[in-house]
Amino acid sequence: MSRDGELSGRISLVTGASRGIGHAIARRLARDGATVVCVARNAERLEEAVASLRKDGLTAEALPLDIRDEDAVRSGVEQTLARHTRIDHLINNAGITRDGLLLRMKTDDWKTVLETNLTGMFFLTRAVLSAMVRARSGRIVNLSSVVARSGNPGQSNYCASKAAIEGFTRSLALEIASRGITVNAVAPGFINTDMTAGLDDKARQAMTGRIPLRRLGEPDDVAGAVRFLVGKEASYITGTTLNVNGGMHL
Ligand SMILES: NC(=O)c1ccc[n+]([C@@H]2O[C@H](COP(=O)([O-])OP(=O)(O)OC[C@H]3O[C@@H](n4cnc5c(N)ncnc54)[C@H](O)[C@@H]3O)[C@@H](O)[C@H]2O)c1
Repeated sequence: MSRDGELSGRISLVTGASRGIGHAIARRLARDGATVVCVARNAERLEEAVASLRKDGLTAEALPLDIRDEDAVRSGVEQTLARHTRIDHLINNAGITRDGLLLRMKTDDWKTVLETNLTGMFFLTRAVLSAMVRARSGRIVNLSSVVARSGNPGQSNYCASKAAIEGFTRSLALEIASRGITVNAVAPGFINTDMTAGLDDKARQAMTGRIPLRRLGEPDDVAGAVRFLVGKEASYITGTTLNVNGGMHL
């Protein structure tokens, strides 16, 4: 596969790259020439994911860590910078759900979701930012969700984390625009991944009925949007949220 695309020589760090949307993003960026540094918690599964990219001739490496662990994030980013001298793209994709109605929500489910989706993204972004500021260039893309705006019963923890990500994205975009760094969010609708695999047929049908384009999205639909935001053609776009949801927001 070609490695002399537009992203040739670029280093992309993608969190949650062992499966689902993150894996599709890593593959998409690598296909256009980037070296992808893939982050996830489970080292074994991550190695398999990286091996599948390499098997297709793509350049990828594994960086196993838990994004909730501030020290692990700092040293993982330091290692990456020591090896590659730069990080051009940070894709904050790792995210989890721990659903439940608020009246019965366990404190641990609240904390785990916020610590992963929001604080983990903060740790990664802060760790990567000084190298981007020095380089006076960089692209940051944060994964939000359609439910950041719509809300979803049983997901107050998840929706709070995703709405916060969009506010974070706009604030950071303003903070670092003068340094040539763009910060955007991508908000997927319902996408076919492990996160939605647990739904029974009835729930899946009900969900599809709410989507004007009448199908769940695929990880590649989201990966294409991320690819656009790190590319040359998006150089004048910052602080925005790109909806990838089959028209659900209309
Ligand atoms: N699937 C959907 O329908 C959907 C819709 C809207 C938004 N999203 C968002 O897209 C992103 C990816 O979703 P997905 O469906 O591919 O999820 P997934 O569950 O298939 O994969 C999640 C990835 O995140 C990693 N991860 C989770 N916690 C981590 C931690 N503490 N440290 C490091 N890595 C960690 C996992 O290892 C895995 O690689 C998430 O932010 C999710 O909220 C998904």
